[in-house]
Amino acid sequence: MGVEHRIERMTTIATSGAGEQAAEQVARAAREGLLSRPKRLPPWLFYDEAGSRLFERITELPEYYLTRTERGILRQFAGEIVARAADGARLRIVELGAGSADKTRLLLAAAVARQGTVVYEPVDVSASALQAARERIERELPGVSVAPRVADYMHGLALEPEQAGERRLVLYIGSSIGNFDPEDAARLLAGVRAGLAAGDALLLGVDLVKDESALLVAYDDAAGVTAAFNRNLLARLNRELGADFDVDSFAHRAVWNEAERRIEMHLESRAAQAVRLEALGLQVEFARGERIHTENSYKYRPGEAETMLQAAGFATAGSWTDERGWFEVCLGRVD
Ligand code: AVJ
Repeated sequence: MGVEHRIERMTTIATSGAGEQAAEQVARAAREGLLSRPKRLPPWLFYDEAGSRLFERITELPEYYLTRTERGILRQFAGEIVARAADGARLRIVELGAGSADKTRLLLAAAVARQGTVVYEPVDVSASALQAARERIERELPGVSVAPRVADYMHGLALEPEQAGERRLVLYIGSSIGNFDPEDAARLLAGVRAGLAAGDALLLGVDLVKDESALLVAYDDAAGVTAAFNRNLLARLNRELGADFDVDSFAHRAVWNEAERRIEMHLESRAAQAVRLEALGLQVEFARGERIHTENSYKYRPGEAETMLQAAGFATAGSWTDERGWFEVCLGRVD
């Protein structure tokens, strides 16, 4: 199966929530993934309603440093980032995904402080996630007008025609890029670049390589929320495809893959068992210890985000990190 094929399905981001993928998309992903060797399921399947709620809880866990650290960087540097992106012009802010809540708000507030008002265009495949983002932002942030766009940005960005004198700042934050292998990530960034004009910019948030132990606990927390998030995938297939997964007979595994520099999440069968997926007319066998690979979360070395941006046709216009050097946001500009 080609890269193109996989990328097509990874259309939601963490906060999008609504579980609106067509039933047949879920069916196709489950069939393909469970018939592959090794077995796998794509990470977009995490985000039905229950999964989106679990992800929100993950972002508040003491071990899950990503959200908190990126928020800290933006709290400190939002003014500078916005000024650098605007470069003297007015900005319009586009976000890939329906809003990373309080993190996006910091940038919107900085834009309002600078230019009085700002147009915010969240792009997401989920109309209901966009609607929720719109209500929240317009209520809480005077000066921001929200222009939501239902679209699958994996196939490039079809944006409104550029307003004279306005530049775009596209946000792709939250380490969302980390779900993609290097080839798919490059393709995504090049697709974004193709939708932009000279002077426009992209802000990319990436998680950095650090102590293995810190990485592992972030993906295997003491309260078991990440384990529940991972297992919810099977519960979802039970709900939506009439499957009979005994969810508790699969163990949550988080593994650091040093060679690929990524955290992998797997679900490991605690016993030899067969699972029936009614809607697919399919029975799947598991050996004891057999795993389903459910997610990759790539971690980057300092400078790698800049290199990725450059390879996609952006010039580096700035990069910001926290005191520990755990997370980085990087600005690329179209020359
Ligand atoms: C939403 C892809 C950034 O990789 O850290 C959190 C998803 N998976 N805990 C990440 C996730 C397990 C998250 N991203």
